[in-house]
Amino acid sequence: MIVIREKSAFLIYPNSFLNSLLMCGIVGYTGPREAYPIVINGLKRLEYRGYDSTGVALLNGGLKVYKKKGRVADLENFIIGENLHSNIGIGHTRWATHGEPNDRNAHPHTSASGKLAMIHNGIIENYAQIKKELLNKGYHFTSDTDTEVLLNFIEDIKNNNECNLEEAVRVALKRITGAYCILLIDEDTPDTIIAARKGSPLVIGVGKGEHFLGSDATPMLEYTKEVVYVNDYELAIVKPDELILKNLGNEKITPFVTKLDMELAAIEKGGYDHFMLKEIFEQPSTIYDCLRGRLDAAAGQIKMSGVDNNIEAFKNASRIIIVACGTSWHAGLVAEYVIEELCRIPVEVEYASEFRYRNPIINKGDIILAISQSGETADTLVAIENAKKQGAIIFGIVNVVGSSIARMSDGGAYTHAGPEIGVASTKAFTGQLAVLMMMALQIGKVRGTITNKLFSQLLFELDAVPEKVEALLKNADQLKMIAEKYKDATDALFLGRGYNFPIALEGALKLKEISYIHAEGYPAAEMKHGPIALVTEILPVVFVATKDSYHEKIISNMQEIKARRGKVIAIITEGDEVTPTLADDVFFVPPAHEIMAPLLSCVPLQLLSYYMGVAKGVDVDKPRNLAKSVTVE
Ligand code: G6P
Repeated sequence: MIVIREKSAFLIYPNSFLNSLLMCGIVGYTGPREAYPIVINGLKRLEYRGYDSTGVALLNGGLKVYKKKGRVADLENFIIGENLHSNIGIGHTRWATHGEPNDRNAHPHTSASGKLAMIHNGIIENYAQIKKELLNKGYHFTSDTDTEVLLNFIEDIKNNNECNLEEAVRVALKRITGAYCILLIDEDTPDTIIAARKGSPLVIGVGKGEHFLGSDATPMLEYTKEVVYVNDYELAIVKPDELILKNLGNEKITPFVTKLDMELAAIEKGGYDHFMLKEIFEQPSTIYDCLRGRLDAAAGQIKMSGVDNNIEAFKNASRIIIVACGTSWHAGLVAEYVIEELCRIPVEVEYASEFRYRNPIINKGDIILAISQSGETADTLVAIENAKKQGAIIFGIVNVVGSSIARMSDGGAYTHAGPEIGVASTKAFTGQLAVLMMMALQIGKVRGTITNKLFSQLLFELDAVPEKVEALLKNADQLKMIAEKYKDATDALFLGRGYNFPIALEGALKLKEISYIHAEGYPAAEMKHGPIALVTEILPVVFVATKDSYHEKIISNMQEIKARRGKVIAIITEGDEVTPTLADDVFFVPPAHEIMAPLLSCVPLQLLSYYMGVAKGVDVDKPRNLAKSVTVE
């Protein structure tokens, strides 16, 4: 039996502790179509998860494995001319942690008999012990990976116990510690993929007489909208017309089918040169989508069901602790300013990677806000799992529907930004800010810490953000020109105050990620305590200086830079006549209440980084060494 669940929401599922996961993308197909194009196109969509090496395994008169260091396109070129006919296939794109990225370590791996092929996303922690046992039995290994060890371990069990592959996988998984999502194919059962997960994501798409597998749903979007999110410790036997889910105790589990609310166009470039640019330009509509159905300025209302369901907890919260990484951490920093201002609840913002390893004090009544685009970031996941054990309420702000953080949270709000493919986060960030603004307003209202007048004013201000972002995007070319002018800089400084201070940090992070220019973000006044020593006539200093209560102060900081001949690029508010007399280059954003300023001022900084990266010839969608979803600690 299959149960259809209409709408994925923040449901609480049993979920496992994640320790340290290898990031990678996995794809599989079994059915009547040609598997190779489905697998290879699926891998292209999952390249955000890693792009160090790629491989596919097909069954075409026997097992065929093709793998190569480099990106999916390199593999495609490598296998031009091969007979790739097969109705079953698995594919893998790797982000190397253990074992350098080379052809040998690329997945799929093949078992000693040459009959089984396996791909793996995760880390087998006790692989060394198992490898020793297998070496003693005479096994040889061709790679440095834990994956090859697990595969041969499975084959060894299959041979010795004379059991089928499914049984062998189950026995093996009970012995191993660590994290995994594995897909296996076997020459002896040529229509079946065996899959299992613990810790790493696995989605199975249900078609008519066919099934698709992926690390997320994007590889299967054009074929089916019905997917099953596989849970930890579950094993799937996937045939064209049958999907059997079992636990490791060999008991059948009813698969829950979720209907996807996602269109194919959302994961294609749509005429833009890069996903990053497309995603920057999508922001008027993604912010609108985020506000839609939640914010009603005319009626003076915000309705977020996740907040409503936990309203007593928020009303009485003694503290909010925000845990996040990267760009999501910067959204958390904006939230600290806004929540303390509007809700008068003390807020702490923690790097998840630090929070999880220290011994933080968590009191009854503390709420943890976990902010994550992917919902899969390992450090954030473990941080909230630890906090949960100490009794904290976990509220997730997540973009990817059905992701692990969403599932582990007690409640939450989706950002509804749609799939974000560019490695550097843009539209997910503004989605996070929009959610956090709404939450602060809703909670402030319930707590009575915001006046009716300000509440109403800010509702209208927030409502107007999509339109204002659209307006400023019309001047994107100005930033392209500024980027051309400064593209040869080796360093850059980003300065902001108050609500714009986290935006200065985010601007610096974006520039580093996308253009490889060293950049630092600083509170504008604090720059006198160090970074000012870097100022020379070739250092670009980006001021996020929109009109707010600190405007005069930041003008003074700008003068301090000018006095030392630094180059000033200023993001300022339309109508500001003073700043252009001090700055070398300016970009105007529409006027807004200072609380809403981050939603506008971050956009020109995204564009500046993008154009600088492009001007420098960087592959902005896949900058070196980075990955979109960091599922490794
Ligand atoms: C990576 C990405 C960043 C992202 C960060 C946190 O570093 O490249 O863009 O901000 O992870 O990811 P999350 O999915 O938890 O928001």
